[in-house]
Amino acid sequence: MSEKTCTPQNYVFMQGKYVPYQDAKISVRNHTFLYGTSLFEGIRAYWNQEDEQLYVFRAKEHFERMHRNSRIMHMNPLYSVEKMCEITKELLLKNAPKTDTYIRPTLYKTAEKVGPGLLDNPDDFLIFTTPLGDYVDTSKGLKVCVSNWRRNDDNAIPPRAKISGCYANTALIVTDAKLAGFDDAIVLSENGHVTEGSAMNLYLVENGKLITTNVTDNILIGITRNTIKELAQNELGIEVIEREIDRTELYIGDEAFYCGTGAQVSPITSIDNRAVGDGKVGEITKKLQSLYFDTVKGKIDKYKHWCMPVYDN
Ligand SMILES: Cc1ncc(COP(=O)(O)O)c(C=O)c1O
Repeated sequence: MSEKTCTPQNYVFMQGKYVPYQDAKISVRNHTFLYGTSLFEGIRAYWNQEDEQLYVFRAKEHFERMHRNSRIMHMNPLYSVEKMCEITKELLLKNAPKTDTYIRPTLYKTAEKVGPGLLDNPDDFLIFTTPLGDYVDTSKGLKVCVSNWRRNDDNAIPPRAKISGCYANTALIVTDAKLAGFDDAIVLSENGHVTEGSAMNLYLVENGKLITTNVTDNILIGITRNTIKELAQNELGIEVIEREIDRTELYIGDEAFYCGTGAQVSPITSIDNRAVGDGKVGEITKKLQSLYFDTVKGKIDKYKHWCMPVYDN
């Protein structure tokens, strides 16, 4: 299912209450609507048919990131990380999905004033949930380009903060990539180095090692990126190197894949009309993808602590 066909589930948490979707409204003068001043997270919950259980993947780490980032935007996160996890569970219990579900928490500025300042501007925290399958194709291998848009810099709108306004950059990148006939685009920073995909992190495979960009290269420091790093090192004994990546390295790697909550693990088979490796989904990518899907569905005991069960079976 693509994001276009998502249907809202019944309840939304906002202003401290669980309200029916049709009543979850904000003002046309809302600060976040006017200036893009919210922080958000995208979290997935996976339905495991065998366990008849919905597992929320690494909710704690998502809310910890939101808490840290709130300091950048002079925000008060209002609830502890533990409470945010509880609210998520409670909301899912109310909406009761038995399918893979996307959870969208947002910490947002609520002042109804004209003027972008963040002070004297109270915060609210909301969450909605919606069914979501693949955000990008995870099976066939993506054909991507290098965007001619640049990623906004840490000193402009910091990508690490996951600020909603930052995603106007993403919107331009992904839209123009699609209009040019690609599935997505890899984005360079102003200094010409690789950052990440439109809304996901990037890994290259070179000589059996994984390479990904530094956390200081204008990326969102993805929770999936960290998950892949742990799975690669602990389960496959693969070395993971974090360093600056040149554009031309994209053309000479053996394998490439995207990772992110939305993207999950999505193989890339072509970049700027050049085949990645032999142009087929790579073997290491396949292994990591399979490990990732088992992990998020709560099928690997060692990583079950990352999966928050929703239903009291
Ligand atoms: C710009 C960007 N990079 C990377 C990611 C991946 O982050 P995570 O794995 O925490 O979902 C996302 C969100 O999914 C994103 O929006």
